[in-house]
Amino acid sequence: MQEKNRHYQERINRWLATFLRTHYPADETAAATLLKAIRYSLLAGGKRIRPLLAYATAEAIDLPPQHADAIAGSVEMIHAYSLIHDDLPVMDDDDLRRGQPTCHIAFDEATAILAGDALQAMAFEALALAEASPAITLELVRQLARACGTCGMAGGQALDLQGENQQLDKQRLDQVHALKTGALISATMNMTASLQPALSEQQKTGIATFATHFGMAFQIMDDVLDVTGDTNTLGKPVGSDEKQNKATYPQLLGLEGSIERAREHIGEATAAVAGLPGDPDYLNQLGQWVLTRRH
Ligand code: IPE
Ligand code: IPE
Ligand code: MG
Ligand code: MG
Ligand code: MG
Repeated sequence: MQEKNRHYQERINRWLATFLRTHYPADETAAATLLKAIRYSLLAGGKRIRPLLAYATAEAIDLPPQHADAIAGSVEMIHAYSLIHDDLPVMDDDDLRRGQPTCHIAFDEATAILAGDALQAMAFEALALAEASPAITLELVRQLARACGTCGMAGGQALDLQGENQQLDKQRLDQVHALKTGALISATMNMTASLQPALSEQQKTGIATFATHFGMAFQIMDDVLDVTGDTNTLGKPVGSDEKQNKATYPQLLGLEGSIERAREHIGEATAAVAGLPGDPDYLNQLGQWVLTRRH
């Protein structure tokens, strides 16, 4: 799996770099610093888990990887924007991301806000380049928009902030996780599924179910690693959630209980993708990896 991860990470890194070079040549933009901040945050590593999920979904539904490139690229742009804003002093106030100073530290707060704004727009520009018919492309745009907004990532981040200094019950915490993290992961996989006309409704539901459970497990383990990880490996500060008094899974269920819950989610995810037309192995390997990851 590690080799496959590397292969697809290189693929998406190349795609993103080519996109920026082609559509945003440095000498043609008036806002050179803004573009520098975007490049800094978008090309600065990261696990690229959402692109990996797009490519793994493509494998599972027998779709050539080039069809997933624009989806993978656009969700990574949204993700990069969400991280830049998440780290701002008014949100989680963190100064380290992927082992580097966060965008607002390396540049300044206004530039970081604008880099996030511009990345969000850029994501839709990238998605419009999907290798799909106009009707399907429009459907992709709708799905991504939905996953970013009030009913998706931004809404989840609002609930996450509201949950600071509060004890949320499991249902409310699940809602925060599902929106702030799950929605973009679900959009990644559901958009990729939209490109394969041969899928039955049941197969599409299987993919959606995998994504829902994967997203939950991913954020639960993010919360666990915020307690048990180390800053060098994580590339971001441990103890960030405690510092901000966030409502988290470990605070609700303890570490063991949280890991057990994540394991159950991955079990349900795996069960949901048994009947797809392609090979679900890589999807399932990514599911297992979520449970053992150290960063
Ligand atoms: C961190 O995401 C924020 C969450 C939604 C949990 P990742 O763990 O995917 O961060 P990178 O992209 O690998 O840095
Ligand atoms: C962030 O969750 C979710 C986003 C939408 C960016 P966290 O605040 O837990 O992410 P990290 O731990 O800072 O990466
Ligand atoms: Mg946060
Ligand atoms: Mg954070
Ligand atoms: Mg976290």
